[in-house]
Amino acid sequence: MNPEEFRVAAHELVDWIADYRARVQSLPVESTVRPGDVRSGLASHAPEQPEDWADLLADLDRVIVPGVTQTQHPGFFGWFPSNASLSSLLGDMASGGLAALGITWQSAPALTEVEQVVTEWLRELCGLDPQWRGAIQDTASTGTLVAMLAARERASELSEHAGGLQSVGRPLVVYTSPHAHSSVPKAVLLAGFGADNLRHVEVDPVTFAMRPEALREAMAADVAAGRVPAAVIAAVGTTGTAAMDPVREIVEVAGEFGAWVHVDAAMAGSAMLLPECRHLFDGVDGADSLVWNPHKWLGTILDCSLLYVRDVDHLVACMSTTPSYLRSAVDDEVVQYKDWGIPLGRRFRALKLWFHLRLEGVEAIRARLRRDLRNAQWLADQVRATPDWEVLAPVQLQTVCVRHAPEGITGAALEEHTTRWAAAVNASGRAFVSPSLLEGKWMVRVSIGAEATERDDVAAVWALMQECASRRPQG
Ligand SMILES: Cc1ncc(COP(=O)(O)O)c(C=O)c1O
Repeated sequence: MNPEEFRVAAHELVDWIADYRARVQSLPVESTVRPGDVRSGLASHAPEQPEDWADLLADLDRVIVPGVTQTQHPGFFGWFPSNASLSSLLGDMASGGLAALGITWQSAPALTEVEQVVTEWLRELCGLDPQWRGAIQDTASTGTLVAMLAARERASELSEHAGGLQSVGRPLVVYTSPHAHSSVPKAVLLAGFGADNLRHVEVDPVTFAMRPEALREAMAADVAAGRVPAAVIAAVGTTGTAAMDPVREIVEVAGEFGAWVHVDAAMAGSAMLLPECRHLFDGVDGADSLVWNPHKWLGTILDCSLLYVRDVDHLVACMSTTPSYLRSAVDDEVVQYKDWGIPLGRRFRALKLWFHLRLEGVEAIRARLRRDLRNAQWLADQVRATPDWEVLAPVQLQTVCVRHAPEGITGAALEEHTTRWAAAVNASGRAFVSPSLLEGKWMVRVSIGAEATERDDVAAVWALMQECASRRPQG
């Protein structure tokens, strides 16, 4: 494809994207395909000869759109807000067009320096200490893994440069909330700590936030048994209920034992932009690393996760590689992001964040976040005021966890009732919610915050939830 052919096709594709976004509301929110449907709609072998652009474009509508759950739909209340602003899409398109090779500063100085600027912008917008240094990772899962590698290396005095973990005499232990996201235990295991050295610290039964006293007790018990508390991962905005572990107290306790503190605020981090929410992150400047995802609630298209660390020299000591072919005369003057994480080659992800912030403006982003907070409070009020319905966790951000428990339905019947009405909401195509286990029992999370979701949409999902929950099982 030459640039002129590209120009024609790309204009059509942009029209297609604009039309798709304009009509997304008319599509079923949850993908309706069955396993294998998409595959069976595709050719089994790659074409020997070029195909027509028009055929490919038609296939987007025919097989691809039905095979996607519509996260940009105003009725999307699933998992977490997975916003993809059209402003950030423009940045992603520019990134693909430039095809910059992000392996060193020299290979694309702009890639490095725009990333420095946007991570500094967001650090400032979040009210974080200027000591933090940020880099864009693909996902929070990667950011947490990088943080765990850095924590391991601090606790083991850079053992990777000698015998590695195998040479460390005493087991290194990591602590987190039982409500932490699955990427947290995964990172702990991948970083080599081992499942036996991962502790799930008790949480408060009402707020589901980690109890600092329980953390202290667990750490002291490990020390007494000859083990080394190496790291704590604070879940700030848990996936289930958006519970906020108390970072200040966790930092204090971890400090007593010399443990690294990593904060996973993947979804909730956007709330740091709101001064009135900053108290929820109190003490965060005392942590060692912090991950949060502009590709969730903030609105920047996936993949765009921020990992901030306070001691970047230590991170570089863990991650740096300097083969001769990657050296340049300015290495002492520049940031080399390859030394701040796992991959060598990096995409120009900063462009989508830069476009998003410049084209949306911080004021509008803050207004949208506040709208979502108000909508969550509104929904929680409706649920609390309705007989047989309950709100199961404090609503501090945009996630509302509910259960419908009519008299006489308990135990296994209640479990079945909950998953059934949630499935009915999703099968309607009008909205999508996520059933999830809380303390071993099913509940339904209504995660508010899709860019298009207004109060009417929240009212509509609430009406739909009541309608579905009121249906009695057939037969
Ligand atoms: C609290 C929390 N941490 C981590 C993740 C994982 O995010 P990512 O998909 O960017 O790895 C999620 C996503 O649901 C999350 O809610």
